Amino acid sequence: MQNFVFHNKTKVYFGKGQIENLADEISRFGKKALLVYGGGSIKRIGLYDDVIKQLEKAKMTVYELGGVEPNPRHTTVNKGAALCKKEGIDVLLAVGGGSTIDATKAIAAAAKYDGDDCWDLITHKASVKETLPFLSVLTLAATGSEMDGGCVISNIETNEKFGYFAPDNNPDVSFLDPTYTYSVSAYQTASGSADIMSHIFDVAYFSMQDQMDMLKRIQEEVLKTVIKYAPKAIEKPDDYEARANLMWASSWALNDFLYDGLSQSTVCHAMEHELSAFYDITHGHGLAILTPRWLSYVLNEQTAPCIKRFGVNVMGVDENLPLMDGAKTAIKKLEEFFYETLGLKSKLSDLGIDDKNFSVMAKKACRAKGVLKGFTDLTPLDVEAIYRMCL
Ligand code: NZQ
Ligand code: ZN
Repeated sequence: MQNFVFHNKTKVYFGKGQIENLADEISRFGKKALLVYGGGSIKRIGLYDDVIKQLEKAKMTVYELGGVEPNPRHTTVNKGAALCKKEGIDVLLAVGGGSTIDATKAIAAAAKYDGDDCWDLITHKASVKETLPFLSVLTLAATGSEMDGGCVISNIETNEKFGYFAPDNNPDVSFLDPTYTYSVSAYQTASGSADIMSHIFDVAYFSMQDQMDMLKRIQEEVLKTVIKYAPKAIEKPDDYEARANLMWASSWALNDFLYDGLSQSTVCHAMEHELSAFYDITHGHGLAILTPRWLSYVLNEQTAPCIKRFGVNVMGVDENLPLMDGAKTAIKKLEEFFYETLGLKSKLSDLGIDDKNFSVMAKKACRAKGVLKGFTDLTPLDVEAIYRMCL
């Protein structure tokens, strides 16, 4: 077990109608706000109007940056940062899913950077020294961006997508009202649920390192929560209990609480970010395709106990099965959950992806060190083999 520091600065308002507190919260940070949102879903569900009412109540001068793309682009971040500099923006407000919140995080940092290209910060050519304050109103349960310091930005010209983490880059305040997720499609609900599960799998659950038992058991409970409520939310999109459980699971899966300082590559995320960098696919769907194949690929005598434990404690696998059979049954049940229960397509070829770029993607996924250090270490040849298992 490792030593660790837990610090999460995000203040969360959770539940119906909590948006009423936005005016008071945002006015603490100044008078000029940049409202950032995606392709229009917030207008269709009436949330844009709720937010504008609050900003008027707070007597803010409001600027807007709409049209943030899923897999947000660095060019959009640059546009937002330039607007902040030109208008002297005091505070940012992200209203949307992970892409909108991530773009806002990057704008918060780029607005305080002397250069004019945020890609310098994302690629660590320059370091983040200061950020603008920002708040978020979450509309999709998936990434955990509403309560973490990470953001993931894409450079579509170079087929690159990089995660960038700054511990102080959490939202200052986040509003989590599950009713704003009633309109999320079955597809995005399924993909977001796969993403929540993958954060637990990737950051800590599937690991050869020692972990605090309490955390391991809570990870299993959060996984079971997603398995219980994602199908309910798909079946009945306005099921408040289901949406609330998914939303809070999203935040806690990646806000550092579940991890006791262990350190490993987030292997499936590294592999998936190449898929979305090259093919602009939905992040959670890519993870749902990769994860069971990755587990099958790394299954051996050393990894089997952890995979079988997942099967028994989370997926209802019979604990009396022999080790290897138990682990294989766990993987099969995870596949059934993603592809049958949640209805996600199971193959990369279903998304129009062939093996043309696998070799270069595999090398990029392993980065400069040439190896992903995780549950088992993976070289580019291993990663390429896993991509092929997904075809
Ligand atoms: O753009 P709009 O019109 O808002 O539509 C979005 C988008 O088309 C729609 N949507 C969101 N809320 C909705 C809604 N539609 C109807 N009703 C609502 N209430 O859903 C689509 C996808 O939105 P997006 O924000 O892209 O999804 P998600 O939250 O899954 O974010 C994905 C991005 O986050 C990154 C991913 O790589 C990807 O770029 N990640 C960020 C992480 C972090 N910050 O820590 C960690 C994750 O592992 C992940 O990598
Ligand atoms: Zn993710």
